[in-house]
Amino acid sequence: MEAFALSGVIGALSFALDLTEGQPPGHALRSCMIGMRIAEELELPAADRSDLFYALLLKDAGCSVNASRMAALFGADDQELKRTAKQVDWTSRRRAAAWAAREAGAGGKLGDRVGALKRVQAAGEVARELAATRCDRGAEIARKLFLTEATAGAIRGLDEHWDGSGHPDGLQGAEIPLFARILCLAQTVEVFHAAGGVGAAREVALRRRARWFDPVIVDAFAVVCRDAAFWRSLEAPDVTVWEPEELVLAADEERLDAICEGFARVIDAKSPYTARHSERVSELAVGIGEMLGYGPATLRGLRRAALLHDIGKLAISSRILDKPGKLTDDEFAAIRSHPVYSLQILERARCFASIAELAANHHERLDGRGYPRRLGADRLDQPMRALAVADVYEALTAERPYRTGMPRERALEIVHQDVPERLDPDVAAALEAHLDRPRWVATVGVDGSEADTTGQRRNRSRSRAG
Ligand SMILES: [Fe+2]
Ligand SMILES: [Fe+2]
Repeated sequence: MEAFALSGVIGALSFALDLTEGQPPGHALRSCMIGMRIAEELELPAADRSDLFYALLLKDAGCSVNASRMAALFGADDQELKRTAKQVDWTSRRRAAAWAAREAGAGGKLGDRVGALKRVQAAGEVARELAATRCDRGAEIARKLFLTEATAGAIRGLDEHWDGSGHPDGLQGAEIPLFARILCLAQTVEVFHAAGGVGAAREVALRRRARWFDPVIVDAFAVVCRDAAFWRSLEAPDVTVWEPEELVLAADEERLDAICEGFARVIDAKSPYTARHSERVSELAVGIGEMLGYGPATLRGLRRAALLHDIGKLAISSRILDKPGKLTDDEFAAIRSHPVYSLQILERARCFASIAELAANHHERLDGRGYPRRLGADRLDQPMRALAVADVYEALTAERPYRTGMPRERALEIVHQDVPERLDPDVAAALEAHLDRPRWVATVGVDGSEADTTGQRRNRSRSRAG
């Protein structure tokens, strides 16, 4: 197989993390370059820099795990909350309170805003807990990708502050891993640089020197601030030049599978409505593919596409994804845009170019009335049709916060209502044959209520499945 650099794959997928964090595209790449430039200034050995490099690229891997709770707590868009939170010195009670007052229930009616603010003020320790889950999940994803403990530890300590005011453990000074200290500075100055240039980045670093940031790292950063050519290079960010040359990691097949599994967890964590969705869709799609006689390479591609098919949901506000009531037309349109983002994100990674269309076409239907592009039968090959059926069946049978999973027979009935006009008959038959296999019954069991198979009829408030 063609060899892919791990940095290219993770760099491409980091755009999905930027979307979840409400940051401009390329935030993770630019933070990585800034952190690596600081490491150069600090003269860190190359061997250490490789661990730092991947920590910088994956610093936001835990971003989705607290998105839903933040949106619910504040009654606001999680991406906007995360974006503005990065600009606030939240260790100052006054500034944190002003930020909460501004963001709670933003855009809503006064009564809703007051209610949201009361919830936030009552939350107290919740901020620490939200940060902790994010840090833990980020570290967990790094380990899943076979990265080092130094990388995982840096991601976990990303929000710790030099003076002990940070999260999740309130570590102080040299108790905080060095790489975590670099991550903390790099991500903050990137945000301020994007908003106000080098001057703004330097100013925030100096203002928070010895409070948020290690003074030695701030001093190294002050030197970096004078490197005009470096700052110009951020305009077209390319992290590959910053990976230590002799330690370039390759994304072999095993690691690519692990990346897909890791990002599936990031995707599924975005909403309690989709817990384990991507993983289960991948199991079903592979089961269908096996029944259709696909070879190992096709199955592998189908599995990866299934694991990543909803990666575009990371771009959609949890306030909309989790909304219990009826969706407005705009909210419905936002949800329906997620496959567009899936395509854009996956096309960035050369190693996923062959599965990008497959992943992104899971809501298209044979009659040309699916979304987002209304592609018809002539544009939908059988693996795409297999993924569409797996996605519908999983959505119907999954346990959701508002309902139990639909029983298998009822779910199959609903799938068959769309056969053959919208869903492929051979694929639907393969699904049934797969579900009849004893291994499936033994390992996964029979699933179980109602979800939308068409994305447009039935109750709109429930049509966020898949
Ligand atoms: Fe989807
Ligand atoms: Fe889906």
